[in-house]
Amino acid sequence: MNRPLLILGLETSCDETAGAVTAEGGLVLSNVIASQHDLHGEYGGVVPEIASRAHAERILPVVHKALAEAGATFRDIGAVAVGSRPGLIGALLVGVSAAKALAWSLGVPLIGVDHVEAHLYAPLLQRRSDAATNQRSAGANVYPALGLVVSGGHTAVYLLRSPIDIARLGATIDDAVGEAYDKVGAVLGLPYPGGPHVDRLARLGNPRAHDFPISRLAPDSLDFSFSGLKTAVLYAVRGVPGAGEKGKMNMESSEGAHAPKLTAPIWSRDAARMSEAEKADVAASFQRVAVQALMLKLGRALDMLEASAGGGAQERGKERPRSLLVGGGVSANSLLRTELAAFAAMRGLELRLPAMEFCLDNAAMIAGLGAVRLAAGLVDDLSLRAEPTTG
Ligand code: KG4
Ligand code: ZN
Repeated sequence: MNRPLLILGLETSCDETAGAVTAEGGLVLSNVIASQHDLHGEYGGVVPEIASRAHAERILPVVHKALAEAGATFRDIGAVAVGSRPGLIGALLVGVSAAKALAWSLGVPLIGVDHVEAHLYAPLLQRRSDAATNQRSAGANVYPALGLVVSGGHTAVYLLRSPIDIARLGATIDDAVGEAYDKVGAVLGLPYPGGPHVDRLARLGNPRAHDFPISRLAPDSLDFSFSGLKTAVLYAVRGVPGAGEKGKMNMESSEGAHAPKLTAPIWSRDAARMSEAEKADVAASFQRVAVQALMLKLGRALDMLEASAGGGAQERGKERPRSLLVGGGVSANSLLRTELAAFAAMRGLELRLPAMEFCLDNAAMIAGLGAVRLAAGLVDDLSLRAEPTTG
């Protein structure tokens, strides 16, 4: 039987151990994700060493499960793709080492994939149910595209001429938007990771209850900043340190009266004393501004691309985007999805959002983009390195 070429994808860049099998055209046959949230929850963030150990324990069971759910065996696999950058180095190394061993022993090509570029491919993946009802096309006509990646580690806007020809137009200068969501979740006493919980709570609150600041940066900047917003939320919940008697820093030193030692500020309040309605108001007000900041920079990016396309400028600027591709964990956010739909409709862009299971870190997006790289001859060998940063 002449079977289509199947790609096995592996993803271990952060706290999800994931394996997937895709067929041609970004068709996802299986998408297995072993989350480590239970292991990191008590620390309020990802502990790199715990993540690496958990990946090492889980990667092979995840691969076997991905093959079984796809109805495939190792003999059906035509190439192995792996997220090789960016991410936690120890975590990435587990996936890269496993992918090398599998590709070498199966005698098939090895393909290193950039995790952020893979998030931009996630909206083009097709589930079996979509393919059956022909709901989505594989995406040949979506380029050039405006791209937005919003996750726990990344917030950036891109121009894509193809899935592998990508120019970054702007990025966060401090926190990623998902990181801000997670910190706001922690300040409000919500479980880790806070993003989905803040999203849920925000739907119950008044988005105008607090007037949090929006960071616009320079008038033509396509960069993002979320640290000021995060700090404003912290102060709204806990009070401003130094304001009032209770908020004063403790200047007493244990080493002598002349060596003042700063300790953590004594907050005058905390979320435990807030009512659910007060917390919901903070969540809703934060979410309104966070999403507004993303939409502001998307609008600016499209304005700039349209201006240069209309003005006969060369190269990159010539292309007016046809579509908007969005990826990363925060693309699961309810308000962002609504705002993106309104923006795309108003600006004449085809909006491609990932299905929910492809928003968060997953290996289907790695396998899908791996197939595109393979078709373009972009394969790696056993010298492939795990790299903590992109480029
Ligand atoms: O893409 P992802 O799984 O990992 C990275 O590459 O960073 O994104 C995880 C991030 C976390 O910060 C999580 O809180 C956030 O996505 N997130 C959300 C929602 N669902 C996940 N943030 C806001 N609203 C959501 N519904
Ligand atoms: Zn990610």
